[in-house]
Amino acid sequence: MAEDLAPQDDSPQAQLAPVVVTVCTTCRREGVDPEAKRPGRVLAEALNGADLPEGVTVRGVECLSACSRSCSILIEGGSERWSYIYGDLDPEDHLADITAGITAYATTTDGLVPWRERPVIFRKQSVARIPPLKLPSVDLTKDD
Ligand code: FES
Repeated sequence: MAEDLAPQDDSPQAQLAPVVVTVCTTCRREGVDPEAKRPGRVLAEALNGADLPEGVTVRGVECLSACSRSCSILIEGGSERWSYIYGDLDPEDHLADITAGITAYATTTDGLVPWRERPVIFRKQSVARIPPLKLPSVDLTKDD
């Protein structure tokens, strides 16, 4: 069969799960004209057109329930990686750093980019990190 003849890509990058960047398109920002295109939408469109690694897709959704931290995004990459929500993002000033942070995330197997390799906005503007489902619980039967 033709499928059997297709070359296999066994590189570590090819084995990584896809990364999905979810951008809130309804986020507003203080000082931005309320009649103008929503900053969240601006950010979503900018990231969708950005030079991101293969395997990374961008989608827009209405509200991540992080409205007080607008603009906000969620970065996730399958069942093996930690996921992150970042906030207080500026669609213009932060675009290059967000792109760099996503690119670094996409190279990991577990979503944990070394601290010093994260863009400053990802170090300082994390709203939450969500563990992979397979991560076992801490022992809840023992006192700390
Ligand atoms: S409007 Fe963007 S998180 Fe709610």
